[in-house]
Amino acid sequence: MGLKSKKTNPMRTEDIFEPDSSYAIEVKELKKYFKGKFETVKAVDGISFKVKYGELFGFLGPNGAGKTTTINMLTGLLKPTEGTGAVGGYDITKNLNSIKQIIGVCPQEPATFKFLTGKENIELFGNLHLIAKEVLKNRTSKLLETLDLLEASKRKTKGYSGGMVRRLNLIIALINNPKIAFLDEPTVGMDPRARRSTWEYIGSLKNEDKTIILTTHYIEEAEALCDKVAIIDYGKLIELGSPKELMEKYEAVNLEKVFMKITGRRIVEGI
Ligand SMILES: Nc1ncnc2c1ncn2[C@@H]1O[C@H](COP(=O)(O)OP(=O)(O)O)[C@@H](O)[C@H]1O
Ligand SMILES: [Mg+2]
Repeated sequence: MGLKSKKTNPMRTEDIFEPDSSYAIEVKELKKYFKGKFETVKAVDGISFKVKYGELFGFLGPNGAGKTTTINMLTGLLKPTEGTGAVGGYDITKNLNSIKQIIGVCPQEPATFKFLTGKENIELFGNLHLIAKEVLKNRTSKLLETLDLLEASKRKTKGYSGGMVRRLNLIIALINNPKIAFLDEPTVGMDPRARRSTWEYIGSLKNEDKTIILTTHYIEEAEALCDKVAIIDYGKLIELGSPKELMEKYEAVNLEKVFMKITGRRIVEGI
C-alpha cells in the first residue's frame, strides 16, 4: 500500500473539536463508512446531536439505520471514518480509556460464559472492574432481584432463554454503577411481562442520576421511556425532540406516524 497524503484542510471537525463537558454525550458530524469490494455502506452518514446529563435518550430507527454502529463508535468498538464526539467530556478519538471507566454497555448481541452461572458471570465482570467484594455482592443481589433473575442466577447460563441472557447482560452493563449507560435494543426477545418490568427498571435508572442511551426499533419502547428521541434512517438523523414535541409537530398520534410522515415507511418494515 502506498502512503496516503494527509488532508490539510484546517477545518476538519476532528481538529477543532473541544468537548463540552456539560453534556453527557456530544456527537459531531459522525460518519462510519464500511468499504466493501463493490460498494461502500454509509452506515452512519454525518450525524450530530447532544445528550444532557440525566436524560434517557432514545435512538430510534428501522433495522440497518445505523444505531448500533453509532453506539459502537461512542463506546470504542469502532473507529469513526470521519467526525468525532465525546462521552462524559472525553473525546472518543483520544480518550477511550477514560470513557471506558464511566460507561456501561449492554450490547445488541448479548453474550455470557455458558458454563458459568448467572451470578458467576456477573462476578467475573465485577472483578474486571475491580469492584470491592462487599459492594459487588450487594449490587449483584439487588440487580438480580430487581430484574427477576435471583433464582435463575444459581444455574449455568447455558439453559437461559434469550430474554434472560439479555437481562443478565443488562446487569453486567450496570455492575460498575456507570454514570452513562448504552443499552442497545435491551428488550429484544423478551416476553411482554419481562419487557414491561425491564422498561420500568430502565425508567427508574433516571432516579439514580444516570444518563441512558437506548437504541430501539420498538416505537412503544421509545415512547414509554425516552425524554428525547433521535429518529435515524439510512445513517442520517431525520428528527430530534421529545416524543410529545415530535407528535405535535407532525400532528401524529404516535412516533410510528411521525416516522411515516417523514419517510413514507413504517419503522418495523425497515429498509
Ligand atoms: N461490519 C460491517 N461491515 C459492513 N457493513 C456493516 C457492518 N456493520 C454494519 N453494517 C451495515 O451498516 C448499516 C447499519 O447497521 P447497524 O448500525 O447495525 O444498524 P441498526 O443497529 O440501526 O440496525 C447496515 O446496512 C449494516 O448492514
Ligand atoms: Mg442494531
